[in-house]
Amino acid sequence: MRLQDRVAIVTGGAQGIGRAIAERYLKEGARVAIADLNGDGARATAAALGNGTIAVETDIARQDSIDAMVDAVVERFGRIDVLVNNAAVFDMAPILEITRDSYDTVFDVNVKGLLFTLQAVARQMVAQGKGGKIINLASQAGRCGEPLGGVYCASKAAVISLTQSAGLGLIGQGINVNAIAPGVVDTPMWDIVEERYTRYENRPSGEKRRLVGEAVPFGRMGLPEDQTGAAVFLASSDSDYVVAQTFNVNGGNVMN
Ligand SMILES: NC(=O)c1ccc[n+]([C@@H]2O[C@H](COP(=O)([O-])OP(=O)(O)OC[C@H]3O[C@@H](n4cnc5c(N)ncnc54)[C@H](O)[C@@H]3O)[C@@H](O)[C@H]2O)c1
Repeated sequence: MRLQDRVAIVTGGAQGIGRAIAERYLKEGARVAIADLNGDGARATAAALGNGTIAVETDIARQDSIDAMVDAVVERFGRIDVLVNNAAVFDMAPILEITRDSYDTVFDVNVKGLLFTLQAVARQMVAQGKGGKIINLASQAGRCGEPLGGVYCASKAAVISLTQSAGLGLIGQGINVNAIAPGVVDTPMWDIVEERYTRYENRPSGEKRRLVGEAVPFGRMGLPEDQTGAAVFLASSDSDYVVAQTFNVNGGNVMN
């Protein structure tokens, strides 16, 4: 087991990629706090995953909620070794139709929420004095723009940039900050993606999922479990010399 007795927080761990990472971390011996805005979902997931898991209802868009989450995890498990900064929201619109509300919602969670969760956990890790591992969820959408994805793509490009800055700024304290950039992964987030494509490209429901899956060189859409190997590597001592990097886990979709 590669994460024996490590204490990990997975934001947005109630479903999708975060849930798969939480489940895999448990199998690798970690204890896991599922920090999610969806409190009922987090509690249901923690109950389903079983011993070694707690649920902490958390809104990463609010500083008081982030601080309370960190306190709750430290009170329960005594320390924090790993943060998976996974929670995010999606929106999509043509450039001429982007609203300030959409921009604020996406950036408040995907960029500001991610940064200040990273900061709060890193402060705890520095106080503990034994380093730590922080893994941000970026996206292939952060590697290149998309005509309908202006705000989301920009938010994920910011995640890649923050990973670089935080990686450089914290490695002196023994904290590795890296990111994973998934491609297209079949999760509940894709229900929203599909709904938007149906609206803006006038497609029948389900068609976009099929088309993006067929376009992946690997031959299918990603599954949440496909992301977990990289998440274990980046949380383990095997990645001690990996600093400020963003790993593509996308079936060959993009290479930059
Ligand atoms: N699914 C994909 O195709 C894909 C591709 C590339 C990157 N990603 C990224 O991977 C990560 C996980 O994606 P997913 O598809 O599993 O998403 P998802 O929408 O299925 O799950 C996201 C989780 O985050 C939680 N969340 C949302 N706002 C929150 C907040 N303010 N505070 C705390 N929790 C909050 C939700 O309740 C939900 O449980 C995200 O960062 C996403 O941008 C996903």
